[in-house]
Amino acid sequence: MRGMTVEREQIIAVINRKGGAGKSTTTLNLAGALAEAGSRVLLVDLDPQASLTRLLTEEPIAGDEGIGACIRTQAIPATSLIRTTDTGLDLIPGDRTIEAVALVSYDNPGAFKRLRRSLLAIQGYDAILLDTPPALGFAATSAMLAAGWAILPTALAQQDLDALLDTLSALSDLEADGEICCRQLAILPNAFRGSTTIDRHGFALLREAYGDIVADPIPLAEAIRRALSARVPVTASEPRSAAAEAYRALAARVAAAAPATLPSSRTEVQNVGA
Ligand SMILES: Nc1ncnc2c1ncn2[C@@H]1O[C@H](COP(=O)(O)OP(=O)(O)OP(=O)(O)O)[C@@H](O)[C@H]1O
Ligand SMILES: [Mg+2]
Repeated sequence: MRGMTVEREQIIAVINRKGGAGKSTTTLNLAGALAEAGSRVLLVDLDPQASLTRLLTEEPIAGDEGIGACIRTQAIPATSLIRTTDTGLDLIPGDRTIEAVALVSYDNPGAFKRLRRSLLAIQGYDAILLDTPPALGFAATSAMLAAGWAILPTALAQQDLDALLDTLSALSDLEADGEICCRQLAILPNAFRGSTTIDRHGFALLREAYGDIVADPIPLAEAIRRALSARVPVTASEPRSAAAEAYRALAARVAAAAPATLPSSRTEVQNVGA
């Protein structure tokens, strides 16, 4: 795929409305596992908090150097915003201007597709991973419309499963509106503790409701926290850890693009809470 423009299936949005569900952690570590397997990976930070950007680069990001810039003015190509990081992963930084874009784009539905247009023009990557903010607003909607894949990391307590419904409904609503978005979907149990009843029960409920869409869990792991502190993917810092293996399995799933379709109705979605 190198040298060619990306396809929708190569754009992966990591989404969950709930804060702290593990979106940025998943984005970084899935990127690490894909890169380890030989993929050229680009990260795009769509969160105005820019936590992934701050993790990966210490350089300050000016208002016209982040992803908001190319959504605001199509004159700035996304390629011109790419910077390399010490991890070997390339990054389009996040910046607060994406919030301003959202405000001026409020009544312009076309604005939600600008990210897709910008990303599809990029060349030379096997995968583009989109980290999104904990809100189903402009940035997350733009990501859903750009991506062929959605990965939804989630914790497993009942309130986490309830919150997951909002994100699944947002995807279903776009589909119902006739938009082609995220044909591939994985729900990713994150920070999983197999020793607790709550996590085991939550995981069983998810598998019962969604079957194979539910990926194998990523464990709650100190190795992951240490990797975040070291600002690298866990596949690089502790390649033999169970956590690294879990991200490799996720990367293999994405690479194989196992067919999975969105839950087609809200009724099905509501089974989770039953
Ligand atoms: N599998 C895990 N094992 C250990 N710690 C984890 C794991 N996943 C996430 N964490 C911890 O939880 C914190 C929050 O995760 P993360 O920042 O990825 O969530 P987020 O969904 O991106 O949050 P936000 O909604 O604010 O963007 C991380 O800083 C990390 O310390
Ligand atoms: Mg985050």
